[in-house]
Amino acid sequence: MIKVENLVKKYGNVTALNHLNCRFETGKVTVILGGSGSGKSTLLRQLTGLEKPDSGSVYFDGVNLTTANKKKLYGIRRKMGMLFQGSALFNYLNIFENIAFPLREHTKIADNIIKTIVTMKLEMVGLRGTEKLMPSQLSGGMMKRVGLARAMVMDPKIIFYDEPTSGLDPISTGVIDKLIKDLNQALNITSVVVSHDMESCFRIADNIMILFFGDIIAEGTVEEIRNSKDLRVKQFINGEPEGPIPFTRTDKNYLDEILFR
Ligand SMILES: Nc1ncnc2c1ncn2[C@@H]1O[C@H](COP(=O)(O)OP(=O)(O)O)[C@@H](O)[C@H]1O
Ligand SMILES: [Mg+2]
Repeated sequence: MIKVENLVKKYGNVTALNHLNCRFETGKVTVILGGSGSGKSTLLRQLTGLEKPDSGSVYFDGVNLTTANKKKLYGIRRKMGMLFQGSALFNYLNIFENIAFPLREHTKIADNIIKTIVTMKLEMVGLRGTEKLMPSQLSGGMMKRVGLARAMVMDPKIIFYDEPTSGLDPISTGVIDKLIKDLNQALNITSVVVSHDMESCFRIADNIMILFFGDIIAEGTVEEIRNSKDLRVKQFINGEPEGPIPFTRTDKNYLDEILFR
């Protein structure tokens, strides 16, 4: 569904994405793993056409997002759902209006139909009956689920999740993981999930991609990644990437030198 070719994105002298080449297959759950600052969110912004790269291309169903005009890009972005880091709900709107927002913004669908659609999406995330509550009345896990209902409201072909389980307790994490998997299987929605949660990743992924400060250092099925001999991949799946001694760009340069000299 998405093909990335030679994608480069720099911020000042930081190369956030360094000549990336990868694919995101239709109907699959692809998890992008990587420690803090490795370029995960930057990649999501490129995949969704929210930001232009310095060079390279992103093809969505064969259309090059990096050269598409506004109208074309808008059409394509309507096929995408996004669950942002931190849910990004509007705190002044109740749950119903939060979920209805994209429909009111992008379509002329009548109110009674909007009501049916919103009720259905809330049902899907197991939050029926919460229409009148405000976001502040919900737990973190519930907010993510409302964010997910909103991401699905336009019936997207693909959903992007930026760290959907960060900050959640294990039970809420399990609920979100199951939702991602169920939506993918029941509705055949392609899913791209950014995560630094290894357990979560192994539960939901069909394919895994590991980003390491702007480079893809490994790509493959869960099985292939588990059996990888690459030291950085091993450190990543066995160690705590966000642990007390996080990797830095200096560490990366050092490793590059000793491993790939
Ligand atoms: N808008 C921006 N302006 C400047 N630097 C940025 C911006 N977005 C990301 N970066 C830098 O690019 C690198 C990758 O960031 P990001 O994609 O947010 O990583 P991740 O989501 O994996 O934590 C980091 O070094 C970050 O500081
Ligand atoms: Mg991020």
